[in-house]
Amino acid sequence: MAQTRIRCAIIGASGYTGAELIRLLRSHPHADIAALSANSHAGQHMQDVFPHLFYDTLPPLTTTEAINFDDIDVAFCCLPHATSQKIIATLPKHLKIIDLSADFRLVDAEAYRHWYGEEHHAPALQAEALYGLTEHYRTDLPNHRLIANPGCYPTCSLLPLLPLAKAGMLEADPVIIDAKSGVSGAGRTIKQGMLYNEVSEGMTAYSVNHHRHMGELHQELGLALGAQPSITFVPHLIPQKRGMVATIYARLQSGYDINAARAQLHQTYANEPFVHLMPQGNVPSTHSVRGSNHCLINIFAGSDARSIILISVIDNLMKGASGQAVQNMNLLCGFPETEGLMGSALFP
Ligand SMILES: NC(=O)c1ccc[n+]([C@@H]2O[C@H](COP(=O)([O-])OP(=O)(O)OC[C@H]3O[C@@H](n4cnc5c(N)ncnc54)[C@H](OP(=O)(O)O)[C@@H]3O)[C@@H](O)[C@H]2O)c1
Repeated sequence: MAQTRIRCAIIGASGYTGAELIRLLRSHPHADIAALSANSHAGQHMQDVFPHLFYDTLPPLTTTEAINFDDIDVAFCCLPHATSQKIIATLPKHLKIIDLSADFRLVDAEAYRHWYGEEHHAPALQAEALYGLTEHYRTDLPNHRLIANPGCYPTCSLLPLLPLAKAGMLEADPVIIDAKSGVSGAGRTIKQGMLYNEVSEGMTAYSVNHHRHMGELHQELGLALGAQPSITFVPHLIPQKRGMVATIYARLQSGYDINAARAQLHQTYANEPFVHLMPQGNVPSTHSVRGSNHCLINIFAGSDARSIILISVIDNLMKGASGQAVQNMNLLCGFPETEGLMGSALFP
């Protein structure tokens, strides 16, 4: 039976995903924020780091080593990849852990080395983790202790692709993903390329067809297809704070058309609280999901009867990170999946 209240720690609370988790957990009916840790900001209060989190009920930011995990039920890890695995390996085994970094998303240690350029330091834990794309791993989730929260680009791209791939409707080649992210996707750490002058009034592609999220995309789409997909993935940085759009060009298998694909998406997501197929012809916009845990998708006809265009939008900090992390926490702890997450988008 679910505990009525759980105690949560946020490791790496002084970054964007940590701050977003605090915003969500503060109004969660079953979660208490019991500990917050940081690195360079350890010793400060959250309101000094993020003035919008001015609540005096929040615990101070400490080092991770200073947290007494004995009375913590769930730990959210909001750390850079490679750091996360080293810290998670030291945490006590009674903890349920939701890792927002990329460290436990790839089941294959060799794939991790390929995409992240170094050996994995906790391969046993890597084998224990479950990929936490909630809508597609919901039934397995409560049986795991360590959840690898998916990346923002893979969440946005896989939600429209997986139902078609699992139904045998999608060709493995080609899958072309043209994706765009707001600047908060890069975290709060200061980088020259993220300065206002570099980002505003312009748009730039980056990591063209070699972005690290391609590892997850290949893994999860390959599993759904039962074959290795041929994925072209080009992410772009766009001059807005939050929001992500994936425009996906793909082909249907012989014997299927856009009506069948649309029916499949409808059947998969009709009863989902956070993934919505829009009415025919409506174009999903990041405006409609800003600050919410929702993903809006739609399907459009391509240049011939078997070519399709899928468009998907999420808020990278919500369904792409902290919102999905809370959705996973709810399932891990036996709470209703939507608890604390049903707020609608901020518009304008
Ligand atoms: N931003 C997104 O949209 C998004 C989406 C999905 C997944 N993610 C992933 O989620 C993770 C966190 O992202 P973010 O955007 O929140 O990053 P961020 O804003 O850069 O924050 C990173 C956090 O990690 C802490 N930290 C860094 N090194 C540490 C260490 N050695 N020990 C303890 N704490 C340390 C930082 O503490 P100090 O600030 O005190 O130094 C900060 O709290 C990353 O792995 C990222 O790839 C991000």
